[in-house]
Amino acid sequence: MNDLNIGIIGAGLMGHEHIQNFNLLDGARIGAIADTNAAMLAKALELSDTDARTSHDYETLLSDDSLDALVIATPNFHHIDVLRAALSTGKPILCEKPLCTTLADTAQVMQQVARDKVTFQVGMEYRFKPALAEMIARVERGDVGGVQMLSIREHRFPFLPKVDDWNRFNANTGGTLVEKCCHFFDLMRLIIGSEPVSVMASAGQNVNHLNEIYDGATPDIWDNGYVIFDFENGARAMLDLCMFAEGSRHSEELAAMGDKAKVECLLPQNIVTHGHRDTWAVDKTDIHVPEEILNAGYHSGATYHQNMAFLASVRGEADVVVTAEDGHRAVAMGVAAQMAAREKRRVDMTELGL
Ligand SMILES: NC(=O)c1ccc[n+]([C@@H]2O[C@H](COP(=O)([O-])OP(=O)(O)OC[C@H]3O[C@@H](n4cnc5c(N)ncnc54)[C@H](O)[C@@H]3O)[C@@H](O)[C@H]2O)c1
Repeated sequence: MNDLNIGIIGAGLMGHEHIQNFNLLDGARIGAIADTNAAMLAKALELSDTDARTSHDYETLLSDDSLDALVIATPNFHHIDVLRAALSTGKPILCEKPLCTTLADTAQVMQQVARDKVTFQVGMEYRFKPALAEMIARVERGDVGGVQMLSIREHRFPFLPKVDDWNRFNANTGGTLVEKCCHFFDLMRLIIGSEPVSVMASAGQNVNHLNEIYDGATPDIWDNGYVIFDFENGARAMLDLCMFAEGSRHSEELAAMGDKAKVECLLPQNIVTHGHRDTWAVDKTDIHVPEEILNAGYHSGATYHQNMAFLASVRGEADVVVTAEDGHRAVAMGVAAQMAAREKRRVDMTELGL
């Protein structure tokens, strides 16, 4: 079987991580890379173990007939521009999260993907973090019983600098609860196995980036918040986000509580614990991730497994794991949570047409 020829659009932190992981995967090669920034493009070419064609505009890459599949890793606000052109090629696409920054755009993409039957995966790679995948498998096997409560805590460092500082403003990212928390909202739907009906939230910008100025403007991105969702099946889930907590034992702690057990996932240490209600015993499992995979990015080995799943769907060997609809619904939860915090009220998901 010939290697799948992959085109990378946007070669910053995530574009580089995609290249490093495709390098490790059988059956794929980097065929072309597009980025407006010469330094990022040069670094991407260096990382690629092929003689990939490079361009400064994504239109040139999209006109390359030799490519079998596309990866989109430009800034959030830019996904929709690339997607409109990329979808018209009919080629399989892996698009970074959040799918887009507005619900009008995510809905348009979802409809076009369904209409044209495009193989389309959204980069919700938390599902593929090895310890989280183990936690999800235990829930799906029924080891936890029906999950009634899901608690997700992320206590971490501030947003990293990005090329041209695009992530400092809500207009570019969609807002913190869309930009990064779409990962957690996607996990809530998956682990609880139900759809959200309403949300309460309190969030804001209390510490970070307040002394920074870009073209005369101070960043407006939130750095902390509490978000609580109620789900159709009666379960509830909570996100506790703090982005000025560099000194945390675990940057992410997830706990699913069901009628049989409590399962926790601790990251980045890749630990899963299983607490039994009947005996009160707690088993601890260290999930091993090979160094080579851990070192190919910043996401505990998730990108390797995510991209492996994408290649399987491109070859028709498996269904797409994270669909355009999943991407749309995760953005909708972020938009609803931001509305709830901004307007200081409970927001019903029907207000967003869901
Ligand atoms: N899956 C995850 O966990 C995860 C983690 C980080 C970022 N992301 C997402 O990945 C995407 C990229 O983020 P990043 O951290 O790599 O940002 P980045 O700033 O490091 O990289 C973005 C790249 O896109 C390039 N670019 C901008 N406009 C372009 C255009 N018109 N044509 C071609 N290239 C263009 C920039 O020059 C830059 O090199 C974002 O959507 C972000 O939310 C996902």
